[in-house]
Amino acid sequence: MNKKTVRDVDVRGKKALVRVDFNVPQAKTGEITDDSRIRAALPTIRYLLDNGAAAILMSHLGRPKGKTAPEFSLRRVASRLEELLSVPVRLAPAVRGPEVARMVREVGPGQVLMLENTRFEPGEEKNDPTLAKELASYGDVFVNDAFGAAHRAHATTAGIAAHIPAVAGLLMQKEIEALGGILHAPERPFVAIIGGAKIAEKIQVLESLTERVDTLLIGGGMSNTFMASLGRPMANTPVESDKFDEARRIVAAAASRGVTLELPTDMVCADAFSETANVRTINGPVPDGWMALDIGPESQENFSRYIRKAATVFWNGPVGVFEMAPFRGGTDAVARAVAECGGMTVVGGGDSLAAVEQAGVADRIKHLSTGGGASLEFMEGKTLPGVAALLDK
Ligand code: 3PG
Repeated sequence: MNKKTVRDVDVRGKKALVRVDFNVPQAKTGEITDDSRIRAALPTIRYLLDNGAAAILMSHLGRPKGKTAPEFSLRRVASRLEELLSVPVRLAPAVRGPEVARMVREVGPGQVLMLENTRFEPGEEKNDPTLAKELASYGDVFVNDAFGAAHRAHATTAGIAAHIPAVAGLLMQKEIEALGGILHAPERPFVAIIGGAKIAEKIQVLESLTERVDTLLIGGGMSNTFMASLGRPMANTPVESDKFDEARRIVAAAASRGVTLELPTDMVCADAFSETANVRTINGPVPDGWMALDIGPESQENFSRYIRKAATVFWNGPVGVFEMAPFRGGTDAVARAVAECGGMTVVGGGDSLAAVEQAGVADRIKHLSTGGGASLEFMEGKTLPGVAALLDK
């Protein structure tokens, strides 16, 4: 990696301002339902504490849109981190201001202070230079470990870097090396599986992948739009009819570049969008009154064959409505095939991570990315603002 990391600077006796992505999923009651992103940042935090630095952590949580909102407080996140780290974690009452500045002055080597949700500040998402400067005054060095938020040009992901030396944390380094490896020098054959509900969010990554992969497997809600755009009757299946041209353009781009693009052949269909609906597997036009909600057994086998033989796999997005038991078979099959693949396997995006957990194969995936949008933009070949802001080696 051509960016400096936390290992390239002397942190002893320094206050390290660390951007983490603790934007974790929570239940309606506020309970954290998956703490992977907190666990993933532990190596950097421990490294700093062990090397005599104070860690001042910053993260966003949800989208409170510049206003203080108790339901978006980092309180629970701070206590989960405290449990995982076995070191006290003090939570500041705000992101900036005199009380926060006092707590920052008090934090010493080996200690952890967490600022409140950075998105309580209206200047955060605007990358306001005044906010970035004030926050930068809290630390001697900026350590960006928030790969999941690196596609955002915000005050705490990019702006601060204009004022104090900025280096990558160990998670950021791991993400850039894993994703960078498959983006720039993938072993072949390179197979990508892209699923999820909507084409709109993934057009750019699909386009970029047609320039990079050998095989593109498309499933999930968006494959229905592809099939409809190619003239397959989809009956009651929701499709994005305003995206037919884009879908056909991607099919044409794949063909012209010699990329094998596979869509489902058979589909698990239901007569309602419900776990208790009548279900049947259909190979051909979807009959009136029915909708496609998962890929069928033949498609599962076809997709799995490509995945198992791959030397590089990138997977983002479930291939069916995996939250409902009757429609999770396709996503489970893909997860198992990725786990069985002996090559480099990278899975990104919250839903895909939940799917590999659900299939019980998370520990057999070579790299689980903490980035959803960030990993997609990285695979589009874009420069992420949070990465660009870091010092070059
Ligand atoms: C994510 O969950 O993908 C990141 O934390 C970014 O969150 P955002 O989409 O609200 O910017």
